[in-house]
Amino acid sequence: MTDKIGYTRKGDIAVLRISNPPVNALSHAVREGLVAGMDRAEADDGVKAVVIVGDGRAFIAGADITEFGKTPLEPFLPDLCKRIEDSPLIVVASLHGVSLGGGLEVALSAHYRIAQPSAKVGLPEVHLGLIPGAGGTQRLPRLIGVDAALDLITTGRQVKADEADRLGIIDEITEGDPGEVGLAYAEKLVASNAPRRPISEMEAPDPIDWDAAYDGTLKKGRGQISPAQAVRAVQASVELPFHQGMQAEREIFMDLMRTDQRQGMIHAFFSERAVGNLPELKGVEPRALQSIGIIGGGTMGAGIATAALLAGFNVVLIEMKLDAAEAARARISGNLSGALKRGKISELQFKTLTTVALEVSINYDSLASVDLVIEAVFEDMAVKKDVFGKLDAVCKPDAILASNTSYLDINEIAASTSRPESVIGLHFFSPAHVMKLLEVVVAEKTAPDVVATGFALGKALNKISVRAGVCDGFIGNRILATYRTAADHMVLDGASPYQIDKALVDFGFAMGPFAVADLAGLDIGWATRKRKAATRHAAERVPTYPDKICEAGNFGQKTGKGFYVYEAGTRGGVPNPEVPELIDAERAERGITPRDFTDAEIVRRYMAAMVNEAAKLLGEGIAKRPLDVDMVLLFGYGFPRYWGGPMKWADLQGLPALLADIERYATEDAWFWQPAPLLKQLVAEGRTFDDLNKDAAR
Ligand code: 3HC
Ligand code: NAI
Repeated sequence: MTDKIGYTRKGDIAVLRISNPPVNALSHAVREGLVAGMDRAEADDGVKAVVIVGDGRAFIAGADITEFGKTPLEPFLPDLCKRIEDSPLIVVASLHGVSLGGGLEVALSAHYRIAQPSAKVGLPEVHLGLIPGAGGTQRLPRLIGVDAALDLITTGRQVKADEADRLGIIDEITEGDPGEVGLAYAEKLVASNAPRRPISEMEAPDPIDWDAAYDGTLKKGRGQISPAQAVRAVQASVELPFHQGMQAEREIFMDLMRTDQRQGMIHAFFSERAVGNLPELKGVEPRALQSIGIIGGGTMGAGIATAALLAGFNVVLIEMKLDAAEAARARISGNLSGALKRGKISELQFKTLTTVALEVSINYDSLASVDLVIEAVFEDMAVKKDVFGKLDAVCKPDAILASNTSYLDINEIAASTSRPESVIGLHFFSPAHVMKLLEVVVAEKTAPDVVATGFALGKALNKISVRAGVCDGFIGNRILATYRTAADHMVLDGASPYQIDKALVDFGFAMGPFAVADLAGLDIGWATRKRKAATRHAAERVPTYPDKICEAGNFGQKTGKGFYVYEAGTRGGVPNPEVPELIDAERAERGITPRDFTDAEIVRRYMAAMVNEAAKLLGEGIAKRPLDVDMVLLFGYGFPRYWGGPMKWADLQGLPALLADIERYATEDAWFWQPAPLLKQLVAEGRTFDDLNKDAAR
């Protein structure tokens, strides 16, 4: 026995208690300990049943993900499950907290399952680019049927105890200490001479149309392969004897273990957790946060207010005029009634949030006692400075003043106050109550406890917060501007916006750049082009045909027309036939003979531009770690999670080949394709972006 498994005995029941904080992952020592525990129980005279229970906050959160990619050590998890199921003793799993992946698979190899009402179970392996690999795809369909099993396995969704009970995954729900409850249940089973009940011996369930299920799942996965592979594993549970089905599952599991998608998704899993863990904030206490002021109740202000109210903050929102204030209130109510409809809040909460917790005012004095203010007024430096001047005058001395600006210089905004150390950027994404990303923009003089408060707010709002430095566009929008430019260049040179959008959706993006531009509003890019025109370098290639789309009053989705045409009542648009004509005219004017682009080249150039700009940002210290960039793109820009993020993608492709491509592109356009010094350095040293993540974690 290892020290990870405790062994106790009460009467004729043995209890195996797993103790591997924080979440009882099935590490090598835990697997070894459980096998030894089963051996000991079976050798222990008079023992008739075994209860397996977890210490701390969970039964078992699954296989130990940190062991993936290393040489697996015996006993392997499927063998442990078989060992448990084959036991001549009755085996009971007593579940509390989460039982996920291998955790649920251990529970399914027990003969009976009892759970706390708050317990949750699931097979989330697809979120790691895998399928269940210890019998989950073979035992679960036998227990609950193919349809329910496929739903759980292909979505990775977790279900609460009551649903698990309805589905037949667990046998009893009883509240109490998991050890005690499990023991009492085992005693009852022994007293009633209940039989062993190995799921592997249950009848195989009925088949379904496997190819249809496979195709449907593949399509839904938008390029992710593991959910569709899970369908094939479940198919094996129906078509093959149990032990052969186990082999089929194992083969698929091991094949997936070797994929880039598995590496990308596990990178995403750990980066999501590491991103808020900043060495510079160790031991720094955030300031207290109870009430939040918001200036401007337009798209962003109303969304931020909604998020803050849902997280339990009191909100004071300031608008310029009474009618604008009322419009802001209506926007927030509209957002909250969405939450009410989806059952996220009750009718009573809705009432409280829209009345007691929310104050809408046109008077800045209402902000006298708030702890933090987020400004979300027009994107205009003069307006922002005016607002910050007023805030500085009315807010209490330790109140934090934040700006939601997309591009403007936070140092300049901070300098317009008497408290630059309390000024920070909090860059939300639209819709702010939905999008998970928050860029915490640290200006030159921002104090560490103000940064810590930005991260604490992000956590309270259930956001993924990423530290960024000050520059035009911070991390996300600066990188966006660059890959968007690469797409613009490809259009000038011969690709169509529609081919580019399609190639990138096929790569796994939620949307292509031209569909995104239509969604955000083409007027934004138009205004930026005008703003930058005066300072533009002569070698910069900027297309003018999008200006013509805007000059005709077409700003994308909001006007019904842009790169695409949007019919009322339909989702998505169809290509706007006027756009190719405008592009042809511009090519002719510039003397460009259009050439063909393959989808692969489109993806390669787009991604190369993204990675190169990100490497520049990293070199400048705007982003501290490659994983910070990855999380920005994943949570704010629809980057496919299964690639882990652009920096992980670059590592997986190989940095030398990527740099060689950038240098080749530079022979056509040396201004745009200037290789990032950091990328050159990594290639010269034979290192990867992930090595930089590891350096930062030391
Ligand atoms: N292996 C190793 N470490 C794990 C882990 C696992 N399966 N699950 C969680 N951890 C670690 C986290 O990395 C984190 O470490 P840190 O404190 O150093 O950052 C710590 O445990 C706590 O995790 P969270 O911060 O995520 O805590 P939460 O309470 O928010 O969530 C959780 C807990 C629901 C268990 C969540 O961590 C989770 O979803 N974990 C992954 C579960 C999973 O995917 N299991 C399947 C694994 S694959 C498998 O079992 C294959 C099998 O079929 C063969
Ligand atoms: P918006 O135009 O929808 O809303 C701005 C609101 O501010 C208006 O309701 C206006 O009445 C109000 N306002 C202007 N001056 C004011 C003042 N002095 N006092 C009080 N209220 C005032 O603009 P939107 O889209 O909400 O953008 C706001 C800020 O957020 C901008 O800085 C923008 O760059 C940034 N941002 C916008 C995103 C988007 O997708 N729309 C995403 C992230 C940031």
